[in-house]
Amino acid sequence: MFLFYLLKRLRSKLHNINVKRKLKVIYSWGTGRAFQLPEEICIELTRRCNLRCSMCYQQHNQIRAEDELSLEEIKSTFNKLKLKTVSLIGGEIFIRKDIFDILDYFAAKGVIIQNLTTNGTLIDEEKAKRLSYFIKRKTIRNISISFDGKKETHDIIRNSKEAFKRAFNGAERLLTSLKTLGINTDKCMHINSVISKLNIKRFDECIDVTKELGIKNIVFNHLIYNTVEDLNRSAKMVGNPELGLFDTCSEKQSIQSEEIPVLLSTWQKALIKADELGINMYARPVSNLEHIKNYYRPDYNPSGVCIYPFFSCRINSDGTVPFCLLMQHKMGNIRTDSLSSIWNNTKFENMRKKLLSGIYPICKRCCKLVTY
Ligand SMILES: C[S@@+](CC[C@H](N)C(=O)[O-])C[C@H]1O[C@@H](n2cnc3c(N)ncnc32)[C@H](O)[C@@H]1O
Ligand code: SF4
Ligand code: SF4
Repeated sequence: MFLFYLLKRLRSKLHNINVKRKLKVIYSWGTGRAFQLPEEICIELTRRCNLRCSMCYQQHNQIRAEDELSLEEIKSTFNKLKLKTVSLIGGEIFIRKDIFDILDYFAAKGVIIQNLTTNGTLIDEEKAKRLSYFIKRKTIRNISISFDGKKETHDIIRNSKEAFKRAFNGAERLLTSLKTLGINTDKCMHINSVISKLNIKRFDECIDVTKELGIKNIVFNHLIYNTVEDLNRSAKMVGNPELGLFDTCSEKQSIQSEEIPVLLSTWQKALIKADELGINMYARPVSNLEHIKNYYRPDYNPSGVCIYPFFSCRINSDGTVPFCLLMQHKMGNIRTDSLSSIWNNTKFENMRKKLLSGIYPICKRCCKLVTY
């Protein structure tokens, strides 16, 4: 009887998740143990960045250049793993001088770069050409470039007078190189935009930028942020009082309750514009109007589940394996332990078990949360 109740509860919690993954999570329920190795690995190649965007959730100074994993260390970890894909993230990955050696290494190993995200400002002619060849050979599947509005808005948010111009030129160079190789750019490039207090009236401008570049797809990301209260509560739950262990941005960047009508009207404008211009507009973690309305309320309390730490793993640029995207609690370091031993160590299993009994307050506005 109890087993039946438990299964019913699990089924309702996991109804948004595909059957294969559902079964795997059910397997993990009592133990927090995940299957063998992560299915998806996201490698943070650097935390360094040439920009300081006002909404960025990353703590840039936490990892110094000299502490970053070297190409040799990346090779020695990934030579032991049989992987089909990885994703690359920064900081700004093109700040690394050896970025193309890293890309060459994965290509030679037959590992596909699922996605690579960049602010676009460092893409010169040569980089554009080299990236296009990776796309042509299908060793990079997708590149996303960030724009948060037209020039004025983007430059304010990105804290640089040159940011828009350089990103736009970088994106154009890449598109030109891709087209020269006869590649359909609709399938391998998209724009990434963040909605925050600073572009609330103008984030529909991102649709114009997308059109101007001739890109087909845009993804709007609602701001990932947390209140101090939620951070404190999450820290208590994981038994670690250090708030610096969370990657998130402050609620000061967020939209206030009284601004929600403005947000919704800009949202509608963006939808209509995208439709008229034949652009596919996506949003995460929420896309329906009711959810968006609630997302920015201080008392937002979505019902949701997160299975990210059961299937996906991040490796930080100093080799640390954090619990997940936002919770930077250290589960181990690939410099001293193998990924497979970290993936199912007691710390990881205990945090996963806790997550299954309910999400942490910090999860509310995380893009990995599956809401229902
Ligand atoms: C951390 S950045 C790293 C890649 C690169 N530097 C860039 O800006 O595209 C990855 C993505 O996260 C977005 N981002 C930064 N802070 C965010 C926040 N607080 N909430 C949601 N997305 C955010 C960025 O705009 C970018 O699209
Ligand atoms: S959003 Fe990207 S470009 Fe901006 S500071 Fe963060 S990592 Fe750098
Ligand atoms: S929803 Fe929570 S557990 Fe899942 S990735 Fe985000 S912060 Fe981590």
